[in-house]
Order: sequence, then structure tokens, then C-alpha cells
Amino acid sequence: MRSLIDVLDFSVEELQELIDTANDIIARPEAYSQICRGKKLATLFFEPSTRTRLSFEAAMYELGGQVIGFSEANSSSSAKGESVADTAKVISCYADIIAMRHPKEGAPLVAAMNASIPVINAGDGGHNHPTQTLADLLTIYREKGGFENLTLGLCGDLKYGRTVHSLINAMSRYAGTRVVLISPEELKLPSYVKKDVLEAKGIPYEQTTNLEEAIPGLDILYMTRVQRERFFSPEEYLRLKDSYILTPEKLRGAREDLCIMHPLPRVNEISVAVDEDPRACYFKQVLYGKYMRMALILKLLKEAKAAGKLGVDMSQTLTDVLFCRNPRCICSVEQELKHVFKLSDRENKVYRCLYCEAKAN
Ligand code: CP
Repeated sequence: MRSLIDVLDFSVEELQELIDTANDIIARPEAYSQICRGKKLATLFFEPSTRTRLSFEAAMYELGGQVIGFSEANSSSSAKGESVADTAKVISCYADIIAMRHPKEGAPLVAAMNASIPVINAGDGGHNHPTQTLADLLTIYREKGGFENLTLGLCGDLKYGRTVHSLINAMSRYAGTRVVLISPEELKLPSYVKKDVLEAKGIPYEQTTNLEEAIPGLDILYMTRVQRERFFSPEEYLRLKDSYILTPEKLRGAREDLCIMHPLPRVNEISVAVDEDPRACYFKQVLYGKYMRMALILKLLKEAKAAGKLGVDMSQTLTDVLFCRNPRCICSVEQELKHVFKLSDRENKVYRCLYCEAKAN
């Protein structure tokens, strides 16, 4: 079954196909208004959300379909100990497609491996958020006219900001991409993204702690929130939460055509005074997210008619030989889940957890 767990599950051509569909929906919404009649989307949200859940629901309603689901873990049987695998099997009896958000990294992949319907990762812990990336890509496409030769500044919590990890993966496939990583030392991009994506693909990047110095060189400034819910220490969060606050003054040296993005919610990273700036694109990004989710639902439902079960390549994996110690991984809470590691770097014999991509140690 075709699912979307990581943005790299789709080729560049497929991402362009989604962008083209979304643009067509924007131009001709009436042509799509009954296309999912009789189909049901299940939104399984084990973690809070405003945009992702409600835009998925709006997307399905605007396609003429229906929605079932829950918006917090405590109102589902996971509160009684039901596993993600069993939840996915059960929901497959009720719905045609699942959108799942979960605090544990890899949970949507476990769901996809057990469901008989397509599963969409709507955010898994600090790991990935591929449908936010779809919203980001449509925003960049419409604002910049394409994806090539862009300098992308990513600012804030690059360690736990899952939207950043997915966006880097996506942008690394376009020619001429350059990346500026702006974060405090404590919130730097994880090494698996830096080494396996930026360095492996030869993407030029620089790291800095200084936002103002970086701004003039950017085509896109992607601000992010410090992810309070991923910290084990409240004191550490309080110390870092206001590391960067974008203000009109800080934008004085910025390009006229800078595109300012943020996946939202914002807490304090962008002053509301910036909202009036024509370069502020974050509320357009919200709207584009709905259209891209409409395009995604259409694509996965169409492919579900033809597909079999999710094809995870298990040829380079080890099962229950290495054990994942990441406390944020789905393996840390589901006792019966097999620990599966995949070979991610043959030369250096590096294995990473199939679900959360943590390195074996
Ligand atoms: N951008 C985003 O994922 O927002 P929500 O947490 O509100 O869904």
C-alpha cells in the first residue's frame, strides 16, 4: 500500500505532480468537490494539532468525503494500552485512508506496516513531518517560481524541529540548493540529517548562531519554534525558548523578495509586527497546506486501488539483533515491536533504527 511516511517516499516528479494538482484545485475547486464521495479519512491524532488535523479534515470535506477520528490519545484505546499496529488494523476496517500524528518517532511507519489502507505521517515526534513539507514546497513554488538555486535559512530549534528535517530532505534534491543553519549550539541539526543528507548529497551549508548576519544572503527564511514538548528539562527549555525573535528591524538588510516562512504555531519567534510585511508568507503556507493535503489524499486513494501492502525494503536490515535506545522512538513504549535496524552507511557499517533513524550504539 502506498503511504507517505517520509517526504523521500515520493520522487521529485511525484512532488511536482502534487503541486500541479494543488494548483489546479486552487483554480477549479468545483471540479474536485465530489471526487471523494463515499470515502472516509481517519485522523488519528495522539498529539495536539490545529493546522495539520483541521486542514486534513477540511481537505477531505472539500473533496466530498467524510472524516472520523480522534484528537487526543486519551480518547482512544491507546490509553488502555492498545498498540499502534492493532490500532492500524482496526481503523483499516472503518476508513479508506489514515492521517496519523504520534509523539513517538516511527509510529506512523509501524501503522503503515500493519494497515491495509494508506497511512500519512502527520508528524512523528521530533523526526519527520512530510505533509508540512508539502505545504512548504507549494509556498516556495508559488512565491519563487521553482526550487532551483535557492539559499534556504533555517532558524531556531533545528534539533527537534521535525519540519526542518523533512524540508532539508526535500530541498536537497534540487540543483543549486544552499543551506544556512541558524541555531543555538544546543539545538543544532542532528548529525544524521547533516551527514546523511547535506554532506552525502554535497549540499553547501554553513552553521551560525547569528540570525542578523545571515539574513541578507537568504532567499527563504524558515523560522521555527523551540519545541517545548521534546525537552526532558523545563529549565533548559526556558533558557533557550527566546533564542531568536524576528522583528522588522532585523529584516532591514533582507532581500526585497525574501520569503519568510514558519510552519506555525509561533510562540515568540516572529513579532506580530512582521505580519504586515509583504514578505511574510506563513499564513499563505497554512492555506497551501490544505490544497496539498487534498492533492495527497487524491493521489494515495487512486494508488490504493492498484497497490498491495507497504513495501519496506527489509533486505539490508537486522531484526532483534541491535536494540534502539532512543527514548523518543516507538520501540521505547511498544514491548512487542521488533527492533529493526537498516544499513545506512555501508562503508562505515552504520546501522540506524528503521523507525526513528537513531544510530546503533
Ligand atoms: N504546522 C503544524 O504542524 O501545526 P499543528 O501542530 O497545529 O498541526
